[in-house]
Amino acid sequence: MKFEIKDRDAAARICRFTTKHGTVTTPNLMPVINPNKMLITPKEMKKLFGTEMVITNAFIINKDKKLRKKALDEGVHKLIDFDGPIMTDSGTFQSYIYGDVDVEPIEIVEFQRDIRSDVGTILDVFGTPNQTKKKAEQGMKETIKRAKQGVKLKGDMALACTIQGSIYPELRENCAKELSKIFPDFFPIGGVVPLMENQRYSDLVRCILSSKKGLDPSKPVHLFGAGHPLIFPLAVALGCDFFDSSAYAKYANDDRLIFYWGTEKLEDLTELPCSCPICLKHTASDLKKIDKKERAREIAKHNLFVSFTEIKKIRNAIANGNLWELVERRANSNPYLFEALKELRIKDNKDFLEQFEPTSKNKALFYTGSQTIHRPIVHRCHNRLFSRYTSFFRDTVVFPEGKKPYSNYYSEQIKRVLKKGDINILIDSHLGPVPLELDEMYPFAQSVFPDTTDNETEEKATKIFNNFTKNKKIICWKGDKTLEEMSESDEKRLNVDLLRISAVSDMQFGKGAAESLFKGEIRIVKSKKTGKMRNIYCDGKHILSMRASDGMFTLKMDGARLLHKSFKFPSLRVILEKDAVPFVKDGKSVFAKFVKDCDSELRPLDECLIVDDKDNLLAIGRCLLNRLEMLSFKVGVAVKSREHM
Ligand code: GUN
Ligand code: ZN
Repeated sequence: MKFEIKDRDAAARICRFTTKHGTVTTPNLMPVINPNKMLITPKEMKKLFGTEMVITNAFIINKDKKLRKKALDEGVHKLIDFDGPIMTDSGTFQSYIYGDVDVEPIEIVEFQRDIRSDVGTILDVFGTPNQTKKKAEQGMKETIKRAKQGVKLKGDMALACTIQGSIYPELRENCAKELSKIFPDFFPIGGVVPLMENQRYSDLVRCILSSKKGLDPSKPVHLFGAGHPLIFPLAVALGCDFFDSSAYAKYANDDRLIFYWGTEKLEDLTELPCSCPICLKHTASDLKKIDKKERAREIAKHNLFVSFTEIKKIRNAIANGNLWELVERRANSNPYLFEALKELRIKDNKDFLEQFEPTSKNKALFYTGSQTIHRPIVHRCHNRLFSRYTSFFRDTVVFPEGKKPYSNYYSEQIKRVLKKGDINILIDSHLGPVPLELDEMYPFAQSVFPDTTDNETEEKATKIFNNFTKNKKIICWKGDKTLEEMSESDEKRLNVDLLRISAVSDMQFGKGAAESLFKGEIRIVKSKKTGKMRNIYCDGKHILSMRASDGMFTLKMDGARLLHKSFKFPSLRVILEKDAVPFVKDGKSVFAKFVKDCDSELRPLDECLIVDDKDNLLAIGRCLLNRLEMLSFKVGVAVKSREHM
């Protein structure tokens, strides 16, 4: 089994998951196949929806004499006639629905191995939401015990060890930590079906986040029993990689159609609001009239079309860097989901999610509503304004929100203000305070807001603004009369460009970066076409380049030397194992398995210094993973190297 990150956004990732029966791209949906009654066969699914992986139930196969014999003789792939990866479940869900099941935890793992399942599942103990904490803890401990037995018996089958712990975050996190220690291959989050059935999405978010906090991040995470596309974007953004759907068939048998915003009864539809091949073929009224069995098949197909389409939209959003936009838009179409996003406003959760958030994105940040200002990337910017940015002068003139970049929009006014003397310029923006020097940096310039937002966004931005300007003298720009009120100062204005590169480098690399980078004679080369900064030289050495796309720096080797000298180990560094040193010296990228340690402040897409274990600087590159990931992934690239010594 292999699981490798290819792209990412939010805490989501696009990965390649490989088993003996091939490779699938995650996030992905595994339709549930009941070997006794297939509404649609796996082969048909592959043809119609591009289904890459399915899940079936080993407990059901084991219980039926004929199925059992065929599966043992010919393998589960022959049994359900599918040659791609197959996951099997264990009977846990049946024991939750029907009470005790007559199968032993060891026996069912061996059986899954013997029918050559690609991913087998332990017989975990289903933790229900209404359990006492004590009862939930017992179930969780028994689950861990069974997982430990399971890994010994799994052979070359990948083993899924389910996280339980009911709705108690400490139990979930603990269970995830304990399970991570025994190195399973796959982590389902279990016991969540009743939460989803009752639209208890806030509880669901707590279950996912607490599980993720305890988990080894290098393994696939599966939200067990989640088959409704409504929750796919949010669950993916929180780090879930797999879903399984029996909902498509269950709802179809009930004449219910799945949509991304919820479920509609066929009887309530006067039109089919969908353009999948099934809905194009029928009108609502003729669908109502066709034979019950055929109708269920048609609706099941529609349900899968809609579900797989949502998965594709999610993968697109990850690649484009606008997954949070999709999550928020979906939440705006369902009040329960909208409520659940409030969990993401809790500081502890923001801190957790921020670690996975890439430094910048391909697409501008789009406002969708009151949740936008609570995104992890905004949380990071606010934190860094306080921990990394220092204003240059005593007094500050504040301009209201305007067109971006603000330095263009307000250029005339700024010129007149600066004639009065040295003064800070700050924008009171929808995202909070934006010092003028940072106005081209992601996401300050790369964000789109309506002219007026909402009360919560305003309150949050104002709160940050007030904290940021506390104990400082601020003058609000009210046109020419502000100029008249300002006193002349005889301080000499520093070079505006120098202020800009100083502020950006401190925000990007950490406090003190500017001081160490810009000690000598600074020369800034600008683009002839756009007038924007391109390359920064210090004493004739090229130390930084500024990216036009996100207003941040690309580090050059001479700049890296300066940061290496002044930032103490392990700041900004990725530290290599000995074996990898010759490869990196040769210009090769850094594979995760060769990372010995790394700065915990580095984020995906951050620039970093690549060093050996004696802190000799070898190369510079761009991180693709954060520290947690670099230390746990055993496959894939951790740092893309760009220049070496
Ligand atoms: N299917 C739905 N929920 C669960 C669960 O918690 N455990 C297992 N094994 N299967 C499930
Ligand atoms: Zn349709």
